[in-house]
Amino acid sequence: MTKDKIEKLIAQLTLQEKIGMIHGDGFFKTKGVERLGIPPFKTSDGPRGVRKDFENAAWKDIGLSYDYSSYLPCNSALAATWNRELAYATGKLLGKEARGRGKDMILAPGINIMRSPLCGRSFEYMGEDPYLVSEMVVPVVQGIEENDVSACVKHFAVNNQETRRLEVDVEVSERALREIYLPGFEAAVKRGKVKGIMGAYNKLHGTHCCHHEELLNKILREEWGFEGITISDWGGVHDTKEALLNGLDIEMSVTSDFDAYYMADPLIRMIEDGEVDKKTALAKIDEKVRHILNVMNKLHMLDGERSAGSYNDYNDKASLRQTARESIVLLKNDKDILPLDRKKVRKLLVVGENANRQHAPGGGSAEIKALYEITPLMGIEMLLGGNAEVVYKPGYYNDDVGNIWADTSGEGNGQADSLNQDSGTTQASPEPEVQAASEEKRKHQKEMNEKYLQEALEAAKDADAVVFVGGLTHDYDTEGQDRADMKLPYEQDRLITELLKVRPDTVVTLVAGSPVDVSAWIDDVNAFVFSWYAGMEGGIALAEVLFGEYNPSGRLPETFPVSEKDCPAMVLGEFPGGDKVSYGEDIFVGYRYYDTYDVATAFPFGYGLSYTEFVMTGIRAEVIEDTVQSKGVKVSFDISNIGRRAGAAVAQIYVAEKFPRIKKAAKELKAFEKIYLEAGETREVTLMLEREAFTYYDEESHSFQVDAGNYMLLLAKNAEEIVDITEIELKVG
Ligand code: BGC
Repeated sequence: MTKDKIEKLIAQLTLQEKIGMIHGDGFFKTKGVERLGIPPFKTSDGPRGVRKDFENAAWKDIGLSYDYSSYLPCNSALAATWNRELAYATGKLLGKEARGRGKDMILAPGINIMRSPLCGRSFEYMGEDPYLVSEMVVPVVQGIEENDVSACVKHFAVNNQETRRLEVDVEVSERALREIYLPGFEAAVKRGKVKGIMGAYNKLHGTHCCHHEELLNKILREEWGFEGITISDWGGVHDTKEALLNGLDIEMSVTSDFDAYYMADPLIRMIEDGEVDKKTALAKIDEKVRHILNVMNKLHMLDGERSAGSYNDYNDKASLRQTARESIVLLKNDKDILPLDRKKVRKLLVVGENANRQHAPGGGSAEIKALYEITPLMGIEMLLGGNAEVVYKPGYYNDDVGNIWADTSGEGNGQADSLNQDSGTTQASPEPEVQAASEEKRKHQKEMNEKYLQEALEAAKDADAVVFVGGLTHDYDTEGQDRADMKLPYEQDRLITELLKVRPDTVVTLVAGSPVDVSAWIDDVNAFVFSWYAGMEGGIALAEVLFGEYNPSGRLPETFPVSEKDCPAMVLGEFPGGDKVSYGEDIFVGYRYYDTYDVATAFPFGYGLSYTEFVMTGIRAEVIEDTVQSKGVKVSFDISNIGRRAGAAVAQIYVAEKFPRIKKAAKELKAFEKIYLEAGETREVTLMLEREAFTYYDEESHSFQVDAGNYMLLLAKNAEEIVDITEIELKVG
């Protein structure tokens, strides 16, 4: 359909019809205009697959058998693969299933920067580094949108905590905003050409992000040239006039009084009462409708052939499993305890409740009604087959008390309450009466933990090998709530410590979506594996890593600090802050802080081991055009696999200005490549650094600048392990 035709369509629409198109007329859809062939616009969560269907105006599951779908690895898992091809494959699968389920927009991916490890939604995001996020989000978006479905990159912007999430007012410098918090969105818009952006719940400098003039009109549309739809987070709109004027196209919420939404009857009344200039208002409404029709047109919703999609396609499971495999991070392997030898293990003890737990149904709006989910225990059983005995002991007692997303409204889903949950909380001491009730529970929990601990220790004595699978659950990694600290719940530290005393060869495996405090036992453990909520194939992928069927290649997309108290948001800024939260750490987020301020970490950004060994040497660089406006710098190096197994390494290039004029981080990631090598293989790798690799945001000129001078290019295995360095000079052009 041509632009002209879209204009003709707009001209035929009544004001009522236009209003119907710009606000929710169901929890996940807007109104269509049947007489003109405009369908309703249907959305669905989310980042880990297509969510189950709800009734249109009640948070009740449709409850039928046809809305089971694929459960994808969470975004922090995807980021841990450092593999752009898998990001594309994951996006493609998500888009295909969204279309297969009849959706027009999938509310994913989430890409907020992990400012603090305590943020409850870290598992939905892609870690702490803007370059890694940008590189991963673009292929996800492209993959999704190949299916005539719009992606919806969220939450724009600075949505970095759940505590008071609906109201919290973020104070952040222009530089940190541009260098840390916006690049992922900018890449999704400029390179990914994404068709949808979701506003964030929180405020930025006093204004709610869902109707924020600077974010939505100035930066997103004028500066970046965004042509798609802006949609509010559910219940993120607070003002009719601002929503009308400041760049929001569609308002959505969690309440069923659809006509009372800010951009519904109140908007019509405002125009009728002359509270806003009528001509301006009508032009703004037309603009919103134009954005919506343009996207509908691009998705072939108005004419032409539209992709049908499909879901639960058997053939897609291979890429899901590969993503799960590549996301798993081997953090420690002293004494070569791993991989376990399946020929020698006749009796395996698996300890830990997470071995036997399915995570798909939790986490908030990222919940998934999975077609299936292979738990670690099942994966291990599947892999070992009939010749080994697998003994399972829970080891600790999980009574599921923490789940704030559990339904209290009687409607069948906690989202109904999501605007009343103290606007998002930090896990804190409960009210006295709740505390009394939970005293009982705590006592019970302690007794059960003791019993389970003893059972596990007893069973550990005569097993050939012991694998512990613990970590967090979506009682902790969840929308609507931040964690109070990084400690493992359910007395797992004690259990792990005791297990290691009896069996120092215990393989400790944690399943979680965000960093945890490992200080209680990290010096004693020999084999330590970190797995995420890795999707429906996650359990078998983990088993394959443990038994060496797959050589681990994941790398941490976020620093594991020793404790949350070391985190820059806590030390230099505020987290979770009060009504206002100051991002006093500025650009020093994640490794930018730990590196520059020389703070020890438990595991650095980019860290991960392999069952083989890689050597990287000979970094050399060539400035293609020798000016600060240079088109780029060509960097080459050699990499060898000197071990006896095939495997994949992740080469990381960090840039550090030698004598910076302004305060900069010690180094910043500016290129990476995942490289698969056979045993004994050597390869030359060449990567390009574009101009952006050398820029910083200058608050005076309000633009990205490059300073002439000398720059070090660091070839690294992770943020703390630099293996080779070269230097280049950029001259003033
Ligand atoms: C979340 C969004 C989600 C929306 C719709 C909100 O609570 O913040 O990420 O897409 O609900 O379920």
